[in-house]
Parts: sequence; structure tokens; C-alpha cells
Amino acid sequence: MKLGLLPWLASPCCGAPVRFASLDSMPREKEDIPDGTLACSSCARAYPIVSGVPRLGPSGRPEALVSRTSASFTWEWSRHPEAGAEDMRVFLEECQLTAADLKGKLVLDAGCGMGRYALAALALGAEVVAVDLSESLARLIGAAQAEPRLHVVQGDLLRPPFKKGTFDLVYSHGVLHHTSDAHKAFLAVAGLVKPEGLLSVWLYGKAGRFADFATNPLRSDRAWLGRHRRLAWAVVAARQLVSDSLRAFTTRLPLFLTYMLCYPLALLGALPGLKYLTFSVEPRFRLRLSENFDWLSPPFQSHHTKEELRAWCAEAGCDVVKVLPHGLVPKPGVLARRRRG
Ligand SMILES: C[S@@+](CC[C@H](N)C(=O)[O-])C[C@H]1O[C@@H](n2cnc3c(N)ncnc32)[C@H](O)[C@@H]1O
Ligand SMILES: [Zn+2]
Repeated sequence: MKLGLLPWLASPCCGAPVRFASLDSMPREKEDIPDGTLACSSCARAYPIVSGVPRLGPSGRPEALVSRTSASFTWEWSRHPEAGAEDMRVFLEECQLTAADLKGKLVLDAGCGMGRYALAALALGAEVVAVDLSESLARLIGAAQAEPRLHVVQGDLLRPPFKKGTFDLVYSHGVLHHTSDAHKAFLAVAGLVKPEGLLSVWLYGKAGRFADFATNPLRSDRAWLGRHRRLAWAVVAARQLVSDSLRAFTTRLPLFLTYMLCYPLALLGALPGLKYLTFSVEPRFRLRLSENFDWLSPPFQSHHTKEELRAWCAEAGCDVVKVLPHGLVPKPGVLARRRRG
């Protein structure tokens, strides 16, 4: 942890600023602080810094489903292939950002996983704080030690360990639907954006009401789907039923068994036509394995519509700037600007 991170942190217990409770030696600016203890300045609750990562996540023994969430993503991201050039394109496209939105900005990657998009934001000139619940953060520790503009924090987005109104940009890429309450997590994350700052969020979609589904924005290469909206709506609803039935089982299995089950799915994912019966059509086998596991293992998985997301933006005092176009399965995503004051 670098000294510069301290003013942005807040205690998850009560939102008060944190201070150093113990340090092995007086740190210099930009130098990494490998170990120590932070404490809440109001209630004195202590939070350790381990291997340079301040651990401000749920304290005590976390609830079983939160533990499974953390263990599942730790399993997934520790096996995920290294970040690649493709990640930059996906990041900008799915978060609906341009390089200018990042250069010189203070940015929060809310639910960073292994940090592939935190590294993309860093490469575009942002100062990046990457937060996650799971031990996937271990994959970013080396980079954070070498890079003064990268900070890694363990925390829970339902009680984010940051002061409100701190960041120029907060993005959360495929994360909030994996919390126990996506709406609450959305409001908490939106509150971290500075007035006039940007918020980018996308969530898993659902068929919902046909009237809403029928107006979903389609990517230009999926425009033909527009002529088959009824059928697409029925397919999405049926797919959800099958997926929910499978997940009732796979989210309860030991992680390694769920992972084993993903091998045949990842193999099927290479076959034309049949690949659409799986949860990943990625060309690379290792990515298909990871994405099938990502779908089947985490215990929390909620689904939303663009109408819900728009209402949440309004509730958080944010104006929608852009809505994410997508393919057959809805992927509600917004880029929004927080209002002044
Ligand atoms: C599907 S992954 C996405 C990771 C990253 N945004 C990406 O796209 O590569 C979801 C991430 O959300 C994290 N997560 C789930 N619940 C969380 C919570 N309550 N607080 C913080 N992170 C959470 C998981 O640990 C996981 O790394
Ligand atoms: Zn406190």
C-alpha cells in the first residue's frame, strides 16, 4: 500500500477516515508499505495490511454465501490466462469509455478480479484503485509494487472502503449482479463518484417484459435480431430457466467438481451451433473454461433490465449518457454522469 491511498480510504464499519495504527517503519511517499495495521479513526476497529494490500473487507466470519463468492472467484481468477491486448478493446467498448475519459483521472475498478481492466486503465494514463472481495487481487500485487499509479484494496462493494465523492470515474464490469443486493451495491458504488464524474456499469440481463425487451439496443452486427424479437425473447427466457435449474445444483458443489463439469462444456463450446448451448462461445479453450465456471459457480447471480438500471441511475443522482448495445442476451449497461451537488 502506498501512502497516497490513505486519504481516499474510509472505514467500512462506519465510514470514518482510517489512520495507521502500526507501521514497521515510517514510509516514504510512493514507497510500498508491505505490512501494518490501519484503524478506524472513530471506533478504532483494526484492519490489517497484508502483502501491501489493505484488507478492508467483511470482518469476522463472513456469511457462507459471501465466502463461496470469494472462494469461487479466487479459484477462477487464479487460473485465468494472463491479461492480453484484446482486453483493452473489450474494456473501452463494454465500459463505453474513450482514452480521454481515463488519462490523468483517478479511477476505481469496482470488482477488479485479476485486474485485466485495471491494467488497461493504467496503460491509458489513469491512477487506478482496484478493489475486490476475493483473493484474485494477488495477481495485481506485483504490478502495484512496481507502479506508483496502481493501488490494490480488498473490500466489499456493499460497504465500500472509500470516502464518498472521491473518484473521477468508477467502472464496474460484470460485478454487481454477483453481490447479495445489486441495487444496494449500485447505490454504494455510484456514491463514490465525484460530482460531474463518470460511472460505468453493466449487469447480467433478463428477458423481462416483452415491451422492454423489444426496445433493447442491438449491436450493429446483431441488427438482424431486431426482426425476430419475439423468438429472441422466448429463447432468452428459456435459457434462463435451464441455467437457473443447473445453477441450483452447480453453486452447491465443491468448486473443483463444478470446474470439472465445465470441461465438457468448454469442449462443446468449440462446435458450431452446439456452442450456443454452453455459457461461453469464446474462441480460446481456457477462456471458455473460465467463463463457464464464472456462470455456474458463484452463488449470487441476479438479472436486470435497462429500465431498472436507468431508475437506479436517477435515484443515485446520475444522468445516463450512453446505453450499451448488445447481442441476443440483454446486457444492460450505462455510462452515466453524476449531477453537480
Ligand atoms: C465476473 S468477475 C469480474 C471481474 C472484472 N471486473 C473483470 O471483468 O475482469 C466479478 C468480480 O466481482 C467480485 N465481487 C463479487 N462480489 C463482490 C463484493 N461484494 N465486493 C467486491 N467485489 C465483489 C468477485 O470477487 C469477482 O472478482
Ligand atoms: Zn468505525
